[in-house]
Amino acid sequence: MENVVLVTGGAGFIGSALVRLLRRVEPLGVVNLDKLTYAGHRANIDALAGDSGHVFVHGDIGDLELVRRLFQEHRPRAVMHLAAETHVDRSILGARPFLETNVLGTHALLAAAREYHADCGPDRDRFRFLLVSTDEVYGSLGPSDPAFTETTPYDPRSPYAASKAAADHLTAAWFHTYGLPVLITNCSNNYGPRQYPEKLIPLMILLAMEGLPLPVYGDGLNVRDWLYVDDHARALRLVLDKGRPGQTYNIGGAAEIANIDLIRTLCRRLDDLMPESPHRPHERLIRFVPDRPGHDRRYAMNFKKVKSELGWEPRESFVSGLFQTIDWYLEHPEWIQAVAGPEFRQWLKRQYGTAA
Ligand code: NAD
Ligand code: TYD
Repeated sequence: MENVVLVTGGAGFIGSALVRLLRRVEPLGVVNLDKLTYAGHRANIDALAGDSGHVFVHGDIGDLELVRRLFQEHRPRAVMHLAAETHVDRSILGARPFLETNVLGTHALLAAAREYHADCGPDRDRFRFLLVSTDEVYGSLGPSDPAFTETTPYDPRSPYAASKAAADHLTAAWFHTYGLPVLITNCSNNYGPRQYPEKLIPLMILLAMEGLPLPVYGDGLNVRDWLYVDDHARALRLVLDKGRPGQTYNIGGAAEIANIDLIRTLCRRLDDLMPESPHRPHERLIRFVPDRPGHDRRYAMNFKKVKSELGWEPRESFVSGLFQTIDWYLEHPEWIQAVAGPEFRQWLKRQYGTAA
């Protein structure tokens, strides 16, 4: 077994932050398997061009023969599985790609990992299969409910959450049935540089910069618990190295905020950073629009387990992380141009009727 990790979805938002961390701190070799869907971009891994410890493979996790070959060629000591269809709104419009990638794709990876693990001889105890999942599998909290713990019953509400819950259950089944040493992490909403602009924070930044309406679903009082992407990547490395097989670890940002408060903070920051903008005050662009069907009211993560067992807690405060994120988007127009092309404009039109 080599000191190599097979990362899936490493050209996406969280995956690319993870791959950069894996190559930077106590470096591990990385084989990065990514299909480059609309959400995956080579621009996210530009910094790794010329790094011989990072091998990019353009392919689908559901391609069993390809995945088998990667296990045999690279003999990884772990899989860190992030590849997924990830956007709730898209899952509401059509669930099939979510089932194909999140459920069947995860199944293909588990099947190939199981064969490989069985063939690893004395090294097999070192092998790990880490699945990156979401707090959305736990359902929706009321305003004064305690935060989700690792024993909160699953109650997925959106097609996205249901597909991730299925992947979690399959992964846990591979531990109990076949003895595959799996780890599952469930995290809250991530934010930071290089997030595809269909998700709330980058969407609001890009729309506000262009003076386009900022669509707030429902009453804007839905609450999310925001986790800075580099804090998340650090947690994943720690769980990989020190987590106990068969266990789930919740990872949260300790940063609950209502959407409307977040968007107002973001608008005021843009006012300060763009004194010449004709769109100031950016709050003027806010529009309350019909609610998302089945919109979960509140998510919040209790991450005491990962804190007490592994010593992890978030380092970034929400306002400072948000400001860094806004700065990053303003400073990287070339990334926006590479990533937010015609496909993104079509999405805006379809979802919001925004002609842009
Ligand atoms: P993302 O949409 O930015 O990236 C997903 C990546 O997976 C893309 O690079 C895409 O090309 C790749 N991919 C999709 N289908 C594939 C397939 N069939 N084969 C190979 N590659 C494929 O997503 P993200 O925000 O980086 O999320 C990564 C993981 O973290 C996902 O599993 C997601 O469910 C989970 N997660 C994300 C958040 C969040 O707030 N972003 C929160 C909780 C959990
Ligand atoms: P999103 O980034 O899609 O993440 P998730 O649905 O996985 O939590 O949305 C974050 C929150 O922002 C969620 O409560 C829905 C809300 N939202 C809007 O109000 N308007 C939008 O245009 C989007 C994309 C999200």
